[in-house]
Amino acid sequence: MTKSIDTYAKHTEVDPMVRSPRLSLARGLSLALALLLWNAPHAFAAGDAAKGADVFKRCTICHNADKDGPNRIGPNLFGVVGRAAGTVSGYSYSTAMKASGVTWTEANLTDYLTDPKKKVPANKMSFAGISDASQLADLIAYLNTLK
Ligand code: HEC
Repeated sequence: MTKSIDTYAKHTEVDPMVRSPRLSLARGLSLALALLLWNAPHAFAAGDAAKGADVFKRCTICHNADKDGPNRIGPNLFGVVGRAAGTVSGYSYSTAMKASGVTWTEANLTDYLTDPKKKVPANKMSFAGISDASQLADLIAYLNTLK
């Protein structure tokens, strides 16, 4: 017993990770970096719906998002996540949107709302797009609550 404690003490004594402050700093930093990299995509995927409701204010000039709410300049967006593009009844879509074949998955919404004219060329939504990735993730989290 005494012998094994001695061996342990000796071992820690010579362990360069413990002895050298520079090495343990490097180890700490790489751990922090690894955690950051591991967390980054998760943080992106899980947007904040409450913040997204705020981002959605940019859309409400053209879109209503209430259940059974009206179409405005753009179609009603209640239940948009998972819906086929161009299918809200009573709304007059562009031919481009009706023929797009897009289903509004989170990934397709992200592409469309980043650059609407790139994702669905010749669609008639006059909106430049949202370049801030975290605002976009928040907005999509919010759209996901509309069901
Ligand atoms: C200036 C008006 C305007 C603004 C602002 C606007 N949109 Fe649109 N949106 C439209 C129009 C018009 C269409 C129909 C496009 C077509 O038929 O080509 C549309 C279509 C869409 C569609 C496709 C819906 C479907 O049923 O296929 C989505 C999704 C959408 N908009 C989301 C948004 C979001 C989210 C925002 C805010 C970030 C936004 N829009 C801002 C006018 C607007």
